[in-house]
Amino acid sequence: MAKKTINDFSFMAAKGEKIVYLTAYDYLTAKMQEKAGIDMILVGDSLGMVSLGYDTTFPVTMDDMVRHCQAVRRGAPQTFIVGDMPYMSYQKSDEDAIANAGRLVKEAAVDAIKLEGGGEMISRRVRAIQQAGILVMGHIGLTPQFMGQIGGYKAQGRSAAAAMKLVDQAKVLEAAGAFSILVEGVPPVVGKAITEAAGIPILGIGAGSYTHGQLLIYADMVGMYDNFTPKFVKKYAGVGEVLTNAFREYAAEVRQGQFPVDTEHAYKMSEEETKEFLV
Ligand code: KIV
Ligand code: NA
Repeated sequence: MAKKTINDFSFMAAKGEKIVYLTAYDYLTAKMQEKAGIDMILVGDSLGMVSLGYDTTFPVTMDDMVRHCQAVRRGAPQTFIVGDMPYMSYQKSDEDAIANAGRLVKEAAVDAIKLEGGGEMISRRVRAIQQAGILVMGHIGLTPQFMGQIGGYKAQGRSAAAAMKLVDQAKVLEAAGAFSILVEGVPPVVGKAITEAAGIPILGIGAGSYTHGQLLIYADMVGMYDNFTPKFVKKYAGVGEVLTNAFREYAAEVRQGQFPVDTEHAYKMSEEETKEFLV
């Protein structure tokens, strides 16, 4: 299947065909997701927690993002890939933001980048990066890089005033040239209002069922990341348990001499050579 473009996503949004979006951080996972027909892959800075073991996304660097976007691109050559802009890769200046977004395109062949926030500075960055020819996805609501200011990892837009502010932010990001916006951690009524107000595809994670598409962190939905599971996650598999049991069984079999079995799991030498070798 040919790689989808922003035209396909706009068309899907207009027709009410849901856009399926998942995170991936490595080659193998990306390969499985492409095989499964996922429409769009996010190499999120959630990489920091899921793959690198940090407590937050703050330590993630541009080099980390480039390396992992490259791996995901190799695994999913025919899938639309969004590379996340890590903390302090776009906050400083338009120039810095363009250069860092450009690295993800140039070095890892991502199709778009994503950055967090809905304020005035962020809309300038969106405009600057977009004018450099790069597709920009906005990200509003629960934005982990603003953890301190939004009062921790918790739902946003739960008052009428806060909800209206999010609708305004979405309009500002659209006007600045974002091709799509990800809305995270808001009540369904807010996800619906933003989706109705926007003229671009609105994707949601923990934003209810009304958005044009859905995103989950893959490690949450397959049951691999068990440090913390947000309320909006549905578990589609228990991969963490399956793997742990496989590791446990392997350990037991090696210790008991049950693995390997030389007639099955070993290279062969001809009888003739063996005889000559053993004399
Ligand atoms: O980094 C990420 O995976 C994200 C999503 C959780 C929205 O930005
Ligand atoms: Na992120």
